[in-house]
Amino acid sequence: MPKTRRILITSALPYANGHIHLGHLVEYIQTDIFARFQRLRGNQAVYLCADDTHGTAIMIRAQTEGRTEHDLIASMRDAHLADFEGFDITFDHYGSTDSEENRSLCSHIWQSLRKHDLIVQREVSQLFDLKAGIFLADRFVQGSCPRCHAPDQYGDSCETCGATYSPAELINPVSTLSGTTPEIRKAEHLFVTLESLRPFLTKWTQESGSLDPKISNYLAGHFLNEPLRDWDISRPSPYFGFEIPDAPGHYWYVWFDAPIGYIATTEQWATKHGGSFADWWCSGDTNQPNAEIHHFIGKDITYFHTLFWPAMLKIADMNLPTKVRVHGFLTVNGQKMSKSRGTFLLARTYLDHLNPAALRYYYATKLSGGIDDIDLNLEEFTTKVNTDLIGKLVNLASRTARWLKKTGLSSSYPNDGGLFAKAATDGEAIAAAYESCDFARAMRIIMQAADRANQYVDNEQPWKLAKQGPQEQQRLQDVASVSLNLFRQLVVYLTPVLPKLADDVAELVGDPITDWQQSQTPLENLPVATFRPLMQRIESSQIDAILADSNALSSTPQGSTVSETSPIKSEPGALPEDSTEPLESDALAETCTIDDFAKVDLRVARVVNAEEVPEARKLLKLTVSLGGDDRRTIFAGIKKFHRPEDLHGRLVVIVANLAPRQMKFGLSEGMVVAASGAGADGVYLLSPDSGAMPGMRLG
Ligand code: MSP
Ligand code: ZN
Repeated sequence: MPKTRRILITSALPYANGHIHLGHLVEYIQTDIFARFQRLRGNQAVYLCADDTHGTAIMIRAQTEGRTEHDLIASMRDAHLADFEGFDITFDHYGSTDSEENRSLCSHIWQSLRKHDLIVQREVSQLFDLKAGIFLADRFVQGSCPRCHAPDQYGDSCETCGATYSPAELINPVSTLSGTTPEIRKAEHLFVTLESLRPFLTKWTQESGSLDPKISNYLAGHFLNEPLRDWDISRPSPYFGFEIPDAPGHYWYVWFDAPIGYIATTEQWATKHGGSFADWWCSGDTNQPNAEIHHFIGKDITYFHTLFWPAMLKIADMNLPTKVRVHGFLTVNGQKMSKSRGTFLLARTYLDHLNPAALRYYYATKLSGGIDDIDLNLEEFTTKVNTDLIGKLVNLASRTARWLKKTGLSSSYPNDGGLFAKAATDGEAIAAAYESCDFARAMRIIMQAADRANQYVDNEQPWKLAKQGPQEQQRLQDVASVSLNLFRQLVVYLTPVLPKLADDVAELVGDPITDWQQSQTPLENLPVATFRPLMQRIESSQIDAILADSNALSSTPQGSTVSETSPIKSEPGALPEDSTEPLESDALAETCTIDDFAKVDLRVARVVNAEEVPEARKLLKLTVSLGGDDRRTIFAGIKKFHRPEDLHGRLVVIVANLAPRQMKFGLSEGMVVAASGAGADGVYLLSPDSGAMPGMRLG
């Protein structure tokens, strides 16, 4: 039995001045998958995070909204927690940098810095916004980079050449708060002199194995090859943060107290469990076996976590991170998320329309542990989820589970030609991929196994066995038992990515998934519950709805950062003024009874194929599915308004019991319901709400 590891896992603490968006989720989903994987492997994994609450941005936002900072951070916390929960991101504890634990730990580390004589005081020139009456934080000034002259850079660093500098060095600075040109004012600031730590930082970044070599090289070439500049670590009043105990009127800069928030959150979690932060951060002080510390961060905050932070920990004689795992940025359809393009996608907007599991799976297929940016391509997203996750994986269960309802799983696992054993052997490669955060590789191996399993079902043709007599029933049970076992085995591997699916499958076979080892032994002789659909396909209408909502949100004056007090969902606005024309030009038909209505059997159907009928001006030839193998051909007069490729896969409503009609081009076996008339030209197909399935009856 391998010794279990103790692993402290963190994501960067999200700022309390904005809502969680799909870019943030690259990190939180990734970290959650890693933590769940570690637990499934039997390790002790503690996943911690907190809101990052201090700084000028929060102060200004609270002012603009006419509320206190504490009021603002409390409501933002609720919003963040709801978003994380919506995506099945489960923290062991979620803290706040605005906590007493954090204040006292900041003091502790501050005193270490003083003791080592690393704090100096100097006058600095800072940009002051005369109109707003405050010193401008780095992010509230824009101008040209002093090194490469790239325009529109923020006051702390250049996105073009990577230079870091102070805002007063910007060329032609402008305050983003008031649009005015700020003036330079002098104020006293406190600095940490880092240069004496350069030998330590060089060794740690280059040799500890905590960083990806790409990051080590970047630090060596950009920072560690010249004397380290002193780090400006205080801000003058007014500032929302902790006042420095031995320097009244000065506040710790938010980036000092933010990472210390990791330790403060550990303290809050540990107190609940009868321990202390020292069990994780000060191995020198305890007799606990060494704990690992893994930080997950985005590439924009690399130097805070790989230079300043290890320097602080070193001075305070605390444990250094075992790994700092840096990921790239999210782009949407190949471009930076953008409010004006409507691709600034909030977590909440996504959850209003789609299943969180789809995004968790998609991100897993895109994350390979490197620092490259990852692209959310909405078409690829739809295809991967529909074709791979649902078409290959979930389909294994939907194709076969129902045949086991009466009999349960075969009493001993049937001969499957070595399929289960092969996928069991894959387990170690999948685990190694998860461990190195190459989730993409893990997903590929899993989907290859799903392909082999589907091949098995295709060969065995259980639907044919089901139609044959009692002599084939044992065979049917065996084929279905193999298929369900192969499915469940892969679900064990996917549990870190798809925890809800794992729960549903546990219910189906009455056996909770708690351990990676469950992938190694097939289930036998167990009852199988009634099969309920495990996951829905993504419809293009859902993607359209997300984009439409995002567009609407970004065109409200406050953009994506609408006030947290009001729910993000758009308020029911004024209704459009509908015309009376349709009813006037087309009067209602005479009254019918419910029995008359019941004669018309309206069903939900999916368009599985749509093609033009070259000789017909108006017609498209549709093949629709009513579920299972039930297919119909319908000729529909919608060619003028719909391109066949747009119809592919969408749900429609059909009159399913309409007498078939022989047409010039073939037999039409039903009618697609659409709205038209009132003098207008268009034909509008009806779609059910998401969640409806082919075959469902309307009424
Ligand atoms: N508050 C700081 C972190 C302090 S940690 C002691 C911060 N907050 S943030 O809200 O801006 O970002 C939180 C995390 O999300 C960061 O790791 C950041 O890199 C990541 N991301 C924010 N936008 C992102 C994308 N568009 N794409 C991928 N990750 C992104 O930084
Ligand atoms: Zn530059």
